[in-house]
Amino acid sequence: MNASRSSDLKPIILTGDRPTGPLHLGHFVGSLRNRVTYQSTYRQFIMLADAQALTDNMNDTSKVHRNVVEVALDYLAVGIDPAQSTILIQSQVPELAELSFYYLNLVTVARLERNPTVKEEIRLRGFERDIPAGFLTYPASQAADISAFKASLVPVGEDQLPMIEQTNEIVRRFNRMAGRDVLVEAQALVPAIGRLPGIDGKAKMSKSLGNVINLGATADEVRAAVKKVYTDPLHLRVADPGHLEGNVAFIYLDAFDPDQEGLARLKEHYVAGGLADSLVKARLETCLQDLLEPIRTRRQEFAQDRAQVMQMLKEGTEKAREVAAQTMAEVKDVLGLRYF
Ligand code: TRP
Repeated sequence: MNASRSSDLKPIILTGDRPTGPLHLGHFVGSLRNRVTYQSTYRQFIMLADAQALTDNMNDTSKVHRNVVEVALDYLAVGIDPAQSTILIQSQVPELAELSFYYLNLVTVARLERNPTVKEEIRLRGFERDIPAGFLTYPASQAADISAFKASLVPVGEDQLPMIEQTNEIVRRFNRMAGRDVLVEAQALVPAIGRLPGIDGKAKMSKSLGNVINLGATADEVRAAVKKVYTDPLHLRVADPGHLEGNVAFIYLDAFDPDQEGLARLKEHYVAGGLADSLVKARLETCLQDLLEPIRTRRQEFAQDRAQVMQMLKEGTEKAREVAAQTMAEVKDVLGLRYF
């Protein structure tokens, strides 16, 4: 069996991010790490979802444009390998927009308004009733993203679970119409560690909350961020017993310390009392610097040749477009939209 044939048989992953800013440790834990792990086992497509990003960024389209290459650099820096993963730009695959247009007839406004992710985002952005229609309906576009590639797996953070659920509802409705399984239902791959809190202890690390550590952070920025990491407000004296619950320093060590046995001993010591926060933070800083230093270096190397990165995106997009066009043709057949 030749190589291309064996890659055709691999289960397909489709995943992506809105390019609205640099990626941070929350993205790394939530999905990037999984994507690096899975890229050799699955046929992986990673989408720079610029069209989706525009649904709430029409006032700043240049931000989205600029961040396409920045997020691509983040992907390359963490170890996404274009020889194994196909990176594509959403807006340059018009079949995705076309497919969304038809999917909008397979979903109700009420169902879109009930989507918990959309609901939460509307609340965060303060849209109230002035919601861009494209924003309200982006779950249909995300269903198009996933199903156009017939992906069965989607590595994302847990906040995206309602999107996958809604995608599958559309897929099932479509397949019922077709009377056969034209489209494929997808399953989310959510990491065991769950979502990463912000350095301030808030439930989520997020750019808009200003509590992030970016993947491209300098060593000084990492050091400054670790100093600010929320620990245990009741741990006033070194001798006092410390608490692990909600203690961001330990939550980060859970996520990033390669020596989990050493970490277990550190935790015991902390809980018993007699271990200073400064020592915990020193350990955390070492872990984060060790993790981010090679990422930063690789990012700088790739950033030297942006033309090459753009070429990689062009080739990835072309390859992805062939796949999406194939699905689009099948969908149009089912809908009776073939005339000539
Ligand atoms: N909604 C995702 C986010 O905000 C980005 C995205 C667009 C996506 N299309 C996708 C994720 C398809 C997974 C699959 O980050």
